[in-house]
Amino acid sequence: MASSSSSVAVGLLISILASFFMVSSAGKFNQDFDIVWGQNKAKELNYGQILTLNLDKESGSGFESKNEYLFGKIDMQIKLVPGNSAGTVTAYYLSSKGANWDEIDFEFLGNVTGEPYILHTNVFCQGKGNREQQFYLWFDPTKDFHTYTILWNPQRIIFYVDGIPIREFENLESYGIPFPRHQPMRIYSTLWNADDWATRGGLVKTDWSQAPFTASYTNFNDDNACVWTYGQYSSCDSNNDNGAWYWEKLSFARRGQMKWVQKNYMIYNYCTDYKRFPYGLPEECNIKNQEF
Ligand SMILES: *[C@@H]1O[C@H](CO)[C@@H](O)[C@H](O)[C@H]1NC(C)=O
Repeated sequence: MASSSSSVAVGLLISILASFFMVSSAGKFNQDFDIVWGQNKAKELNYGQILTLNLDKESGSGFESKNEYLFGKIDMQIKLVPGNSAGTVTAYYLSSKGANWDEIDFEFLGNVTGEPYILHTNVFCQGKGNREQQFYLWFDPTKDFHTYTILWNPQRIIFYVDGIPIREFENLESYGIPFPRHQPMRIYSTLWNADDWATRGGLVKTDWSQAPFTASYTNFNDDNACVWTYGQYSSCDSNNDNGAWYWEKLSFARRGQMKWVQKNYMIYNYCTDYKRFPYGLPEECNIKNQEF
């Protein structure tokens, strides 16, 4: 009798504690991000553990980070729009502001059911991009969450998918090539309609009978990042002990993985697009093409 009433009490205590933790962890996304577009189309699920962006005929939606960062290794897990996602674009990127902005992009271009997404990447330095590389993925990005990571340190930018490097953009300032190193950036994500260009030049139209389209986000991690505050202080520059990511470069094995991805899944590389650049490839391409 005594033991059963105490176990009821313990059970009650556990459920009170559990609900307390659920409430206190609620709004995780609210802590890190502001919804800046399509307010009612961004939704928190699972007590703030998951955020969804939605797109319907009326509008898409999007968020931006409260923090600005100057360097970091930042993870986000994303599950992309399933089914017929043709014409939808889920953009996930870092960007600074102003006319000479820097930007590091992941963009996921949807497709009709059963056909592959395109992962589009780009790097802008001082307002100039034109550095596209595109990939297919080696898994279905709509079935589960996968981790998309931007490593940005003073020496290089690396795009990782589930920890596998797919692209590297090195700091080649010593060759006179600009590198994003001075402007703090925020994280942005938007889900929007681009069926005028994203589907092989507008060939396939968005099927609005499938709306709303939904992309989901979870497990955002900015523990390894330098937060920029009051427009002047970095959480990193006071010490040299900024973590391994600050000095991270590709090991021989990781470089091998990147070559595997680029050989088997890369479908566009600006550095081999001689038609587009008839008067010479961008300078960083010449340097990289000599190296490999
Ligand atoms: C969609 O699927 C077609 C056919 O497999 C493919 O050529 C194309 O690259 C895919 N992606 C997009 C965004 O069109």
